[in-house]
Amino acid sequence: MTGDRPTGKLHLGHYVGSLRERVRLQDSGDYEEIFIMIADMQALTDNADDPAKVQKSILELALDYFSVGIDPEKCTVFVQSQVPQLCELTFYYMNLVTVSRLMRNPTVKSEIQMRNFEKSIPVGFLAYPVSQAADITAFKATCVPVGEDQIPMLEQTNEIVRKFNALYGEVLVEPKVLLSKNKYCLRLPGIDGKAKMSKSLGNCIYLSDDEKTLKEKVMSMFTDPEHIKITDPGKVEGNVVFTYLEAFCADEHFKMFLPEYSTLNELKEHYRSGGLGDAKVKKFLSDILNYILSPIREKRKELAKDPTRIYKLLERGSKRAEEAAKRTLDEVRRAIGVCYF
Ligand code: TRP
Repeated sequence: MTGDRPTGKLHLGHYVGSLRERVRLQDSGDYEEIFIMIADMQALTDNADDPAKVQKSILELALDYFSVGIDPEKCTVFVQSQVPQLCELTFYYMNLVTVSRLMRNPTVKSEIQMRNFEKSIPVGFLAYPVSQAADITAFKATCVPVGEDQIPMLEQTNEIVRKFNALYGEVLVEPKVLLSKNKYCLRLPGIDGKAKMSKSLGNCIYLSDDEKTLKEKVMSMFTDPEHIKITDPGKVEGNVVFTYLEAFCADEHFKMFLPEYSTLNELKEHYRSGGLGDAKVKKFLSDILNYILSPIREKRKELAKDPTRIYKLLERGSKRAEEAAKRTLDEVRRAIGVCYF
């Protein structure tokens, strides 16, 4: 089980950090069922003044999902607000968490700072980790593939599960976080070299960027400021172009776009010793990214022609998710004793 907030288009950080991994999991056949949630209610916890943005982003997010290869026949893709059991579960869980524990959640802490919520924190915002615990446990999820920043949410979830099971009996399942094995994919830096690709920093490459925009963005990437002449030795650590190559490049890409080399290590060695210019490496990265993104872009364009069909898929997924959540809620109510007639 996993999900995203609908607050805008997805970028390459989302792609390597989670989307590509989800498609791999979906096709591995290792999972009985996969739930992917568009977290519109969670998005409202810090966008309550702009519901139109959230509403519009639901379709955008679904288009991103289906165009990268998430298959609605293999995964249940649904919308959080359409599964009311998640709210009910959140309300029961709120009694199992303290305000001070939520304030200590590192993700919540940094988000409070980012949004200048220090003086007046909306209750819904502070409680969103509790609601996320409900999202996960409603489906008795065993694995949650997410980015590194979500680890505190999973810890919070597991504390709630343990407390619930200890108080009311063994009903809930403790989930495990599933992180990408490639450390460069865990947190893709922005094209400016800042630690994180993020919309508010304006340093993203979006899945929907056209070929020209993509090329321009790659050409403007931060490299090694001391690598001035081609003959200068260059640094690959902290060099965004090489970080992206670590995340995206496969040996087959050399045959296709840069046959003078056969592995990334070879390319890195040449850059380190001097004699390899940034423009050439950037051109290589731009070719790779375009090769990966062009079928996604095409599929997105195709799917975007029929939004009704996309909403129908989400509706069907939401019904399926509701059935699954209902089963857990029946057990939860019985365990707590909230069943009188
Ligand atoms: N917090 C996640 C994000 O910021 C979205 C999310 C909501 C989620 N509920 C979830 C992720 C449950 C995994 C599991 O994108």
